[in-house]
Amino acid sequence: MKDLNSELKEKIEQVDQMLLDTLPREEGYQKTVYQAMKYSLMAGGKRLRPLFMKSSFEFFGGKDEPMLDAFMAAIEMIHTYSLIHDDLPAMDDDDYRRGRLSNHKVFGEGMAILAGDALLGYAYEVASRAVDDAFSAELKSARGASLDLASVQRLGRGVRALRILGNKPGVYGMLGGQVVDVELTGQSIAPEVLDFIFDYKTGAMIEASLMIGACLAGASESQIEKMREAGHDIGMAFQIQDDILDVTATEEELGKPVHSDEKNDKTTWVSLYGMEKALQDVQDYSDAALAILRDLYGQGAEDIFLYRLIQKLIHRKK
Ligand code: IPE
Ligand code: IPE
Ligand code: MG
Ligand code: MG
Ligand code: MG
Repeated sequence: MKDLNSELKEKIEQVDQMLLDTLPREEGYQKTVYQAMKYSLMAGGKRLRPLFMKSSFEFFGGKDEPMLDAFMAAIEMIHTYSLIHDDLPAMDDDDYRRGRLSNHKVFGEGMAILAGDALLGYAYEVASRAVDDAFSAELKSARGASLDLASVQRLGRGVRALRILGNKPGVYGMLGGQVVDVELTGQSIAPEVLDFIFDYKTGAMIEASLMIGACLAGASESQIEKMREAGHDIGMAFQIQDDILDVTATEEELGKPVHSDEKNDKTTWVSLYGMEKALQDVQDYSDAALAILRDLYGQGAEDIFLYRLIQKLIHRKK
């Protein structure tokens, strides 16, 4: 078995290259927005959401699906938009992200808002183009005859993936969580409301990644639903760890400011439950996700990349 760290490095490099190839060209009077998009997108994130998507696709035996890359790019662009806006003075007011100055510190607030909007919109342009291209390719290879069932099912998977990509970042997902996070900043938050915030602001994007990967691979409805549950658990663990690292890590390690939550008087998992329970909850939510994967995969689940990635994230330092 390949060493996880070198496998991870290799896969991240592939995602980085793919993102670079997908970005619009820097030309025209509006070229500043391209530069601002690229500045944050290519700043070197962990690329977890595209990696989750691809490994979920492979988990279900997916192979050779040109739509996959487009959806991987789209989810990372949407995630990057959420970070650019999250750092704005009107939100968390953080000056560093991914090891460099935040987008608004370099390009100004107006341009940072537009760059975020542009990444969000461009993500759907890229994903819908891929589905449209798949449609044209299927029609072309049918040479005037009707599409066979397998082709129609494949295109249906593309449309379903678009639907997930429309749903999870929005009102019923990431943005919905950010709304409550922003609205309740400075106030005490009941446990069930903090659950909601974490599930939505962070869980939804990880759910989307795993669900789209499964969907494009041809997984069944119930398998996609299981991946949604796993995504929820991974998302909870991930945001709890993010809150922990805000207290325990350094700015150099994280590439973003520490003690941002305290500065903004946010209720976090650590402030609500204490460090000991927070650490235990990261473990427990991660274990719950791993149990779902073992259930779905059966023997040998422990060896697959997705499984080892989730295990590694339990003790992540950035
Ligand atoms: C940061 O996400 C925002 C949260 C949901 C906690 P990541 O920790 O995945 O950030 P990048 O993509 O690696 O920069
Ligand atoms: C934000 O949570 C999650 C998003 C949807 C962007 P945080 O505000 O805790 O994320 P960081 O710590 O700034 O990355
Ligand atoms: Mg925030
Ligand atoms: Mg923040
Ligand atoms: Mg945080």
